[in-house]
Amino acid sequence: MEIKRAVEIQLDREQLEKIFFDNSLIKSFKSVDEREKFFNRWCGQYLQNYPTQFYLALIDGKMVGYLAGHTNSTKALDEFKIPGYDLFKEYYDQFPAHLHINCDIHHQGMGIGKKLMNTYMDELKDKDVPGVHIITSIGANNSGFYAALGFDIIDFRELKGSKLILMGKKL
Ligand SMILES: CC(C)(COP(=O)(O)OP(=O)(O)OC[C@H]1O[C@@H](n2cnc3c(N)ncnc32)[C@H](O)[C@@H]1OP(=O)(O)O)[C@@H](O)C(=O)NCCC(=O)NCCS
Repeated sequence: MEIKRAVEIQLDREQLEKIFFDNSLIKSFKSVDEREKFFNRWCGQYLQNYPTQFYLALIDGKMVGYLAGHTNSTKALDEFKIPGYDLFKEYYDQFPAHLHINCDIHHQGMGIGKKLMNTYMDELKDKDVPGVHIITSIGANNSGFYAALGFDIIDFRELKGSKLILMGKKL
C-alpha cells in the first residue's frame, strides 16, 4: 500500500465517491443536488481547495482510503461552513488542524487508516502545526480508532439533539 497526495495522481472520482457514500450514515437524498452538496461539504471542497492536504491510500493503484485535511480550522470555519464546527472554535488555537477520513468498507482494520493519519500528522509536525482534532458523535465506533492513535477526549457539545465530541492530539 502507498500513500499519495491528490496533486500527485490522476484521482478516480467515482471510487472516491463510492468510499465516501458507502461509509455515510445518510444513504438517501432529496435530490441529486442535495447528494452532491453533502459530498462537497465533507470531502469535495477539501479536495478542490486543498489538494496538497488530501491523501489517498492506494493498493496496486486502486484507491482504498482517503484523508481530507485542513491545517487551519479557524480559517475553515469561514471557508467551509460545516455544521457543528463553530461549537468548538475555542479549541482551534490548541488543535488547529482537522481532518475527515474514510476507508473502503472491504479494507478496514488493515492499518490503512493509521498509515493515512500518521502521514498527515508527520506533515503537520513538519509545518509546526501544534495540534490536530476531529469531531465525532458520542458512541461512534470510530472514537476507538482515534484513541488508539493518541487522541484524547477534550469536550462535548450538543447539536440538534445529538452529542458531539471533540478529540484532540498535541503534535
Ligand atoms: C475509522 C477508520 C478510518 C479506521 O481506519 P482502519 O484502517 O479501519 O483502522 P486501522 O486498521 O488503521 O486501525 C489503527 C488502530 O486503531 C484501532 N482501531 C481501529 N478501529 C477501531 C475501533 N473502532 N475501536 C477501537 N480501536 C480501533 C486498531 O485496532 C489499530 O490499533 P493498533 O495500532 O494498536 O493495531 C475506518 O475503519 C473507517 O473508514 N471507518 C468507517 C468510517 C469512519 O468512521 N470514518 C471516520 C469518520 S470521523
